[in-house]
Amino acid sequence: MTTYAATACAGANIAFIKYWGNLDEALRLPLTNSLSMTLDTTVTITTVVFDPALQGDQLTLNEEAIVGPALERVSTHLDHLRRLAGVTLPAHVTSRNTFPTGAGIASSASAFAALTMAAAAALGLDLSPKELSALARLGSGSAARSIFGGYAELIAGARHEDAYAVQIAPPDHWPLVDIVAVVSREHKAVGSTGGHALAHTSPLNPARLAHVHTALARARSAILARDIETLGEVMELDALTMHAVMMTSRPSLLYWLPGTMAVMHAVRSWRQEGIPAYFTIDAGPNVHVITLPDYATEVQARLRAMPEVKEIITCQTGKGAILLGDERP
Ligand code: DP6
Repeated sequence: MTTYAATACAGANIAFIKYWGNLDEALRLPLTNSLSMTLDTTVTITTVVFDPALQGDQLTLNEEAIVGPALERVSTHLDHLRRLAGVTLPAHVTSRNTFPTGAGIASSASAFAALTMAAAAALGLDLSPKELSALARLGSGSAARSIFGGYAELIAGARHEDAYAVQIAPPDHWPLVDIVAVVSREHKAVGSTGGHALAHTSPLNPARLAHVHTALARARSAILARDIETLGEVMELDALTMHAVMMTSRPSLLYWLPGTMAVMHAVRSWRQEGIPAYFTIDAGPNVHVITLPDYATEVQARLRAMPEVKEIITCQTGKGAILLGDERP
């Protein structure tokens, strides 16, 4: 019997201008555009083997067999690709992250970007980066951006084929550093998928939506001009408005811990000393500190010295998703 296999690798990303809330939950059509930097050291490597001898889809994540909701999410995603290829073959997905899960780095972005690329290759689908990005979005909204390296913007189209990411600038345009200050490794109670559905219950959501176009335009031009002051200012404001929406939704989502606040205050005080460091925070308590390469060693040392910081993970601007091997006959 014939099997079709391929392996792909994709980096996680950190959004400078984030999306929170979907127009369509099932299709993961985001309410607004979002803009991120793809990361280099935090990657997912995924092999997909379509094999008619299997009883059903299987998932092995970091050497552990996974069943339940995570397998169902992967199966649903593979269905989109199988439908496109006109096949019904079951698959074994083997995936490995180079970073600890629950460390404040969204593994769904790198996971679904790598899965989409590997499954499409294994099925012999000839897709453009735009089509791959839209498909990756169906698995996890932020995965659409991880198809591209460097800086990418996810366009909030109102139809599946119109909601995909585009590259704003390649990785070598501006080598920023993201130092993740891990203040808690605990699994968060409400993940992004559940959280997105609550955005519209916050009275602050309309204000955030009204501001996002200005924020995106400023962030985009700051990246092109390599202007960390403007990017940092707009990035912090965006993270704070997103968390204001989260905190004021019903039920309220309060992701910050005392350690989160400690790092936010520290980063701002370091700026007073002339260190160009800025924070952003995803749906969790850990803080991403963005700085320039020349200041990375100093920021790392200062974060390590904080009692609230359990561990730091340092990333630079990474490449887009790539195919590592295509064993299709
Ligand atoms: C706060 O893409 O993780 O990181 O589609 O449910 O997987 P799912 O959501 P996800 O949401 C990202 C939320 C965010 C902001 C961002 O990355 O833009």
